[in-house]
Amino acid sequence: MSAKLMEDVMSLCKRRAFVYPGSEIYGGLANTWDYGPYGVLLKKNILDFWWKTFVQDRDDMVGIDSAILMNPRVWEASGHVANFADPLMDCKSCQERVRGDKILEEHLKTTIAGLSNAEIFAKVMDEKIPCPKCGKVNWTEPRAFNLMFKTYQGVVEDTAEQIYLRPETAQGIFVNFKNILDSTRMRLPFGVGQYGKSFRNEITPGNFIFRTREFEQMEIEYFVRPEEKEALFDQWVADYKTFFEKLGIPNDKLRLRFHEKDELSHYSSKTVDFEYEFPFGWGELMGIADRGTFDLDQHTKFSGEKLQYRDPVTNELFVPHVVEPALGLTRTFLITLLSAYEEQKLEGDEMRTVLHFAPQIAPVQVAVFPLQKQQSEEATKLYKELKPLFRAEYDESGAIGKRYRRQDEIGTPLCVTMDFQTVEDGCVTVRERDSMKQERVKVEELKTYLFSKLM
Ligand code: GLY
Repeated sequence: MSAKLMEDVMSLCKRRAFVYPGSEIYGGLANTWDYGPYGVLLKKNILDFWWKTFVQDRDDMVGIDSAILMNPRVWEASGHVANFADPLMDCKSCQERVRGDKILEEHLKTTIAGLSNAEIFAKVMDEKIPCPKCGKVNWTEPRAFNLMFKTYQGVVEDTAEQIYLRPETAQGIFVNFKNILDSTRMRLPFGVGQYGKSFRNEITPGNFIFRTREFEQMEIEYFVRPEEKEALFDQWVADYKTFFEKLGIPNDKLRLRFHEKDELSHYSSKTVDFEYEFPFGWGELMGIADRGTFDLDQHTKFSGEKLQYRDPVTNELFVPHVVEPALGLTRTFLITLLSAYEEQKLEGDEMRTVLHFAPQIAPVQVAVFPLQKQQSEEATKLYKELKPLFRAEYDESGAIGKRYRRQDEIGTPLCVTMDFQTVEDGCVTVRERDSMKQERVKVEELKTYLFSKLM
């Protein structure tokens, strides 16, 4: 995949209402993006598809929507205050700021997780790694820079009132573990799903919406008995493979990568990443982690509230283990677009841009056209009947070919055209996006036909 693909997708996103640069009329705010009318639909449809697959359709799952702002003790207990930091170095000559571990990794062309700040500094100086901006080797020693956004609750900007924007949705599940057990009838193994915004003050955001400081997660904390953990971990890997297939992500664009021992997060004893081959190289899409009893133990210690499970049959009391599949919604949005995008050469010199979205997630599922103005009234009536059932759009402007191209570009799977023959034979023309094949379908059978193709 080339850098051109990313440029083409970004340009389409702006042109066709998927993603706009944030605060654009004020000159923007670096690495912030706003989701436009089609973008918000695509994002919501991916989210709904995730929720249906992993929460609604399963008996072992429930959902939660916890607050973004949490008691700051949560983040002390979770280890984020102490561990969620990057080693920052400044160039003393030009003030450029870099992540010490990243410039070392790029220079050595290998991962270097597990080094202390002093070791990073020694290696950077030994290797004489120059500043990417001015070329001098004149670095400050690394400082640990915590990635959590700080803010203040109430009117006094005092450290006593300091709180954080959550860096993961997961902790909202752990701190509600007892509430969920006490107020539902969930039995192990069971999981809790949560989606929502998280915030990380990344030093090196970029690559469009791949790494942003504000992003959306779809996380599951799955509580299990320790002896069933391995098998259920593998089951989650298999379930997500199926999920990506159904989303239309080609298998050869995905790979699994297990974390080395020294690159594991502070809470994990085993993590596997699903990586996607982005135009800029392989990058993390999601992680599935074995968090063991780390979080429930820590919150028990810090809050004094016992977070345990009592087996209803044996009466045994124990702390369940946790398998966590954590997927980024905005990253899934990006890979869905990259995988769906195609510029196709048609007959002659004609080209079309098409997004091959799965019908379940396409922003618009069916477009309704009158062939000519004479059919406008009837076509509008049909559109109004379809609109409560499907994501539908009506278009009567320009030549029919132009209208097809407009819908191809936003990934609409089916277009329905009413023409002068409709009055005689009671049929409409249904045109399929990928094959561009057309067939006549009876108006009275249209809803059933569309249900079978789109849902
Ligand atoms: N909860 C895992 C993550 O945010 O990456």
